[in-house]
Amino acid sequence: MCGIVGIVGTEPVAPLLVDALKRLEYRGYDSAGVATIEDSQLDRRRAEGKLVNLEARLKASPLSGTVGIGHTRWATHGVPNEINAHPHFSDSVAVVHNGIIENFRVLRDELEKDGYSFSSQTDTEVVAHLVSRGLKQGLKPVQAAHEAIKRLEGAFALAILFRDEEDLIVGARNGPPLAIGHGEGKMYLGSDAIALAPFTDRITYLEDGDWCVVHREKAEIFDLEGNPVERVLQRSVGSSLMVDKGNHRHFMIKEIYEQPEVISHTLSHYLDFGDCRTTIGEDLPFNLAEVERISISACGTAYLAGLISKYWFERLAGIPVDIDIASEFRYREMPLKKGGLALFISQSGETADTLASLRYCKENGQHIGAIVNVPESTIARESDAILQTLAGPEIGVASTKAFTCQLSVLVSLAIAVGKARGAIDVQKEKELIRALTEAPRYANKALKLEKQIEKIAADLAKVRHILYLGRDTNYPLALEGALKLKEISYIHAEGYAAGELKHGPIALIDETMPVVVIAPHDRIFEKTVSNMQEVAARGGRIILITDEKGASEVSIDAEHVVVMPDMPEILTPIVYAIPVQLLAYHTALAMGTDVDQPRNLAKSVTVE
Ligand code: F6R
Repeated sequence: MCGIVGIVGTEPVAPLLVDALKRLEYRGYDSAGVATIEDSQLDRRRAEGKLVNLEARLKASPLSGTVGIGHTRWATHGVPNEINAHPHFSDSVAVVHNGIIENFRVLRDELEKDGYSFSSQTDTEVVAHLVSRGLKQGLKPVQAAHEAIKRLEGAFALAILFRDEEDLIVGARNGPPLAIGHGEGKMYLGSDAIALAPFTDRITYLEDGDWCVVHREKAEIFDLEGNPVERVLQRSVGSSLMVDKGNHRHFMIKEIYEQPEVISHTLSHYLDFGDCRTTIGEDLPFNLAEVERISISACGTAYLAGLISKYWFERLAGIPVDIDIASEFRYREMPLKKGGLALFISQSGETADTLASLRYCKENGQHIGAIVNVPESTIARESDAILQTLAGPEIGVASTKAFTCQLSVLVSLAIAVGKARGAIDVQKEKELIRALTEAPRYANKALKLEKQIEKIAADLAKVRHILYLGRDTNYPLALEGALKLKEISYIHAEGYAAGELKHGPIALIDETMPVVVIAPHDRIFEKTVSNMQEVAARGGRIILITDEKGASEVSIDAEHVVVMPDMPEILTPIVYAIPVQLLAYHTALAMGTDVDQPRNLAKSVTVE
């Protein structure tokens, strides 16, 4: 949700700011801008749309200041156009902002009464005017920024630049992340370490309520009252990770293809493949055997990974699981018995609703476990135990490899909880882990189906509505298939538990309606076959994703059958995610949409 960068440098910073913004574009991409100071002149370039437009603007009219701030936007207040693009100016002050200033209405009324006029529809502009008013009242820049920050309510990360200070940026964080990057005689601010990776790997993360004063030679951090605070300087792993598309056309397909490897990394981090035993629990700060209940909160695809794991936790560990969409959970006021385990699943580790749910559970005496892809993220830092997904940076907005890595962590944890509670014995543990060692091999086989799936996608791209059906763990996977398809192809798709079909959605079935059925030959395969009969009887077009056994037994005339290899049931959600992702990817490709940066979306959702 908006990316922020700031540089107090020694050479013209505009190209460096744009370079950093490219690495932040996953956070939002509806407009962008940079501002720099040169010879006591504050100047900016802004452009609607993607960064290429800003680059073109800068090429036509370069900026050469050595201190500057930049922003890539995901609109909250005001349509995405150039006027609403950041940086926002008020006289000698420039501001970039990520998040929402919740009391902006009150502040705007107050500033308007004081004679300030607003040129944009954004909440951000109040910050620029507040700081500017402080300066006019005689405050020094740092003081003016601090006073303004104290007035703000909501979730925000800010970088503030002053026309008359060529060696200063003030940053602030309350909610969305902000990091200081330490260079040699240069200093940086950024929404994440990856943005700063080309410049430095020495990073200090601000904590909520912190604000900072950044000069070329030093950076100081303060709490809201203005007391200096110490935050750890850490080496970021962001810089060592390659973030490019390689030979692939999109990040999404590159990330789909990385799955055999990252699933293998993640599983082998939590499972000892040699002895066939789980290693989770050995260094946890709580005893898995004493946990009586698990509650899971997450959003979007991460929530669906959680929903799949509910089946695993209940089946393998015999432990009840409550699972909620985090935006619902945080306001639900759910009573929680002390000592429960609360799990939060998030690729970014910054999702506002998931973080709020975590804080609720913490206040209510739960052990907090974070399944995150970014170990320096806020959710990770506020947790008792971090179970990292080793997916590497996920850049495509549609989550793919993070999802299968989340499943890899969750299945390992379910086995560990089952073992700790005595619900599975050593023999069963070995059998499950032996099966999981095969996950990367089956994932590779699933990738081989791409050509066939591409052909199916060409048909799907001609329709406006698609249903996805599945039972058991394939029900959440059906939801994931529908989510993936709609977010990148803009075709309307719904996922249903196959058994729910006759309770309503069957009314939609006619000869124009494709129905994707995810049905490996499992214990309840026959039940799903009956649901397919119901679809076929009404002329629906069935696209069946099954295995060799399922394909040989099914007597239904499906329009397409994608035949996966037969595999142990424990693997199916992880491996079947791949054809589901490929179907969405190729349908979007056939539709000609922007696969990596679909409209209206952003990779990291740090607002409610
Ligand atoms: C869908 C997708 C989103 C995210 C959701 C949560 O492809 O990527 O639904 O899963 O926004 O994000 P994280 O995992 O960062 O908390």
